[in-house]
Amino acid sequence: MNKQKGKNLLLAVSVYFAICNPLFAQKFEELAQTPPMGWNSWNTFQTNIDEPLLKGMVDTYISSGMKDAGYTYFVLDDGWMSMERDSAGNLVADPKKFPHGMKAFADYVHSKGLKFGIYNCAGTKTCAGYPGTHGYEYQDARLYASWGVDYLKFDWCYTDGINARDAYITMSKAIRAGGRPMLFSLCEWGGHQPWRWAKNVGQLWRSTGDIGVGFEKDITKGSWTALSVLSILDRQDSIRQYAGPGHWNDPDMLEVGNGMKYNEDKAHFSLWCMLAAPLMAGNDLRKMSPETTGILTNKEVIALDQDPLGVEAFRYYSFDGIEIWVKPLANNELAVCFLNRSGRPQEVNYDWKAHTITDTVSKTSFDFSQTNYKVRDLWAKKDIGTTNKPFKQTVPADDVVVLRLVKQ
Ligand code: GLA
Repeated sequence: MNKQKGKNLLLAVSVYFAICNPLFAQKFEELAQTPPMGWNSWNTFQTNIDEPLLKGMVDTYISSGMKDAGYTYFVLDDGWMSMERDSAGNLVADPKKFPHGMKAFADYVHSKGLKFGIYNCAGTKTCAGYPGTHGYEYQDARLYASWGVDYLKFDWCYTDGINARDAYITMSKAIRAGGRPMLFSLCEWGGHQPWRWAKNVGQLWRSTGDIGVGFEKDITKGSWTALSVLSILDRQDSIRQYAGPGHWNDPDMLEVGNGMKYNEDKAHFSLWCMLAAPLMAGNDLRKMSPETTGILTNKEVIALDQDPLGVEAFRYYSFDGIEIWVKPLANNELAVCFLNRSGRPQEVNYDWKAHTITDTVSKTSFDFSQTNYKVRDLWAKKDIGTTNKPFKQTVPADDVVVLRLVKQ
């Protein structure tokens, strides 16, 4: 056998082993049993990222309590590469931005007990014009595995003539062949309904276009529009049945701490937790206000997102700008979010015992005339009685009250 044939055989055997070994397959199956939590560079820094900035971010990730609150991934978005591949066709970390290379940066992230994520695109270029992965899937996946990448966000720019499903399946196979368990985050914006076909392709898929720093109104930036929190919310209810442990709808990264008002940030975060959304913070962690830190690290609200049942909330009630979203939880518990999107403060007076809440997706039912539940307010951080008494409170405009109901 000549050398090249020997190499090919070795590669084929290791790819076969990687894909067919049950232990290896199991490692992939166990990924993202609850929605992934982390930080991503895009929402604040776009392509203006480099090693000193990001090392500072890693350090504050730890010192601010984000890691303790459950955030794990540290993800570099677009802009980490040089504009050209090298002579062997490999992607190259921009040497000006990452003078010690990407492996060294990944090692730094890992040394702090975090997981490392990176970005590329299914097209010929990334959205910001850097080299895309089309035609280089296996080569790029091997490179990421050699750097210790734990998470790949894979975008959808410059994809004329490319079939979305095929492209994402190819990259998913390439990741598995690379041999290192990696979360695969499909960033196709929902145009090809990935919730219908991506359950076994990746662990999360974007369900809409990009989020912007707006609570109610979309933001038009030249030729494109960034979606507001409420616009994105209104696009989630109909696809909730497709999400569950290991496969999540992704309503895009968080804009908490990026310029909305406190109550809007609090509502945005609460709703994302109700939706069992991946929680990828997108703010400058080095400059977080105590209010922003308080929102992002509210462990009781995060616990709704991370609930092991993995069921997304649904809009149970909507009238005059008041909405009630409910999320069935493990152990027959229930999260209830009163959202006021009416633009003015409103008093809510809700008699639990007059209604039964039934969810056809999780096949759960809550009959408060039969069972009494303790009620805890997760932002006020206090117990406020039981479902034997109606819930009565004024909800300010663009704000929420989030309750956790536990059987007495
Ligand atoms: C797209 C994605 C964003 C971000 C940018 C990077 O717009 O949806 O989340 O990754 O590309 O260029």
